[in-house]
Amino acid sequence: MSNPPTKTNFWHPFAPMGAVDGHEFVIERADDVWVWDTDGNRYLDGTASLWYSNIGHGRSEMADAIHDQMEKMEAYSAFGDLANPTVLQLCDRLVDLSEGRMGEAKVFLGAGGGDAIDTAAKLARRYWQLSGEPERVHLLSRTQGYHGTHGFGTAIAGIEPNREGLGPLMEETARAAHHDIQALEAEIERLGPETVAAFFCEPVIGAGGVHPPSEGYIEAIGEICKRHGILLVIDSVICGFGRLGTWFGFERWDIEPDMVTFAKGVTSGYLPLGGVLINQSLTGPFWDDPSDPPFRHGQTYAGHSTCCAAALKNIEIMEREGLLEKVLENEKIFFDAFSALDGHDAVGEVRGGVGLLAAVGLDPDLLAERPSAPVELGKLVRDRGVLVRPLGDGVAASPPLTAELEHFGEISSAIAAGLEEL
Ligand SMILES: Cc1ncc(COP(=O)(O)O)c(C=O)c1O
Repeated sequence: MSNPPTKTNFWHPFAPMGAVDGHEFVIERADDVWVWDTDGNRYLDGTASLWYSNIGHGRSEMADAIHDQMEKMEAYSAFGDLANPTVLQLCDRLVDLSEGRMGEAKVFLGAGGGDAIDTAAKLARRYWQLSGEPERVHLLSRTQGYHGTHGFGTAIAGIEPNREGLGPLMEETARAAHHDIQALEAEIERLGPETVAAFFCEPVIGAGGVHPPSEGYIEAIGEICKRHGILLVIDSVICGFGRLGTWFGFERWDIEPDMVTFAKGVTSGYLPLGGVLINQSLTGPFWDDPSDPPFRHGQTYAGHSTCCAAALKNIEIMEREGLLEKVLENEKIFFDAFSALDGHDAVGEVRGGVGLLAAVGLDPDLLAERPSAPVELGKLVRDRGVLVRPLGDGVAASPPLTAELEHFGEISSAIAAGLEEL
């Protein structure tokens, strides 16, 4: 463990602070796929920080772009009719990257994934209010789905502990078993299709434990949503910007989402940014006529110039270095490195194969006996100089997209050694 302070005033997200206080793992430096703790120990970043360091850490080109924008104008409000050249340029760029797959799409920006989810949820409900179907209020999601921790994101969470212990949440939500078409159809029937506003779906479930979709699932949900007039919100906060080898995560399947949420990899975490790509088909009630009402929603830092400059440079780097193509070339090799762990006694299943993310789920009997085994395994792997993320039934890996084949082997070997010790 790195040199932790004896006490902390930083309340860590998703952390048992009584246990963490005085036992923090303090990271102070990072370069590409490597990070260093305060004692100078080096670790392979097997998780791209929190699924976001897609271009890798410490790029001076990013620092320069951020510096240049800061010197010119750090930020200015984009509420009402205000804009800045950088946000206009970024939105044009994002729409170009969508290649017309959502018509002439529009972009609503915020400061992260949670903002994007709340935007998509409110926009879905507002759209139906303005389109003569005000009874469409239910928001459907999936078991194990994670959509952040803002108000709507908490209400639609598919990881049950994230919804619990808070008193009443918004009632008009429901969850269907992930990757189960019949379960989704049944839930829609139970609610009444005409009452469902939107269905939220991660193409590959991330924080819920890395669950790639079953064969045909994504196309099937596209068809079901179309048939019932339900808006399909693809949550690509993790899956976008190269994690699945495409810009918006959904392009690997033959679907046309109504909205796509993105964050994390859009700036590779150099600065906070998130947003929603909105299908042209939803814009009518808001954009067609000067007398159309405003969407009364938006966060202070929407269209923040310096965050947008970071996104533009990040996208430029991804394109120049062919990082999307690299993921498509590497995804099988990456998954093979993890599949090699499948035979281990302590392993229940290995999940992945779509994009650069995978998880090693522990044997259910072991988990029943030692519920803390995923956290223990995470620490054992860390002791071997590799950072992986304890999640649900095991540990997950999602390195920067710049990672090379030898890094995949290092992650897998460190997990194998950790499993042995476990
Ligand atoms: C799929 C998904 N949606 C939404 C979010 C929320 O994003 P943020 O933490 O930036 O609010 C996350 C965060 O991990 C996520 O994985």
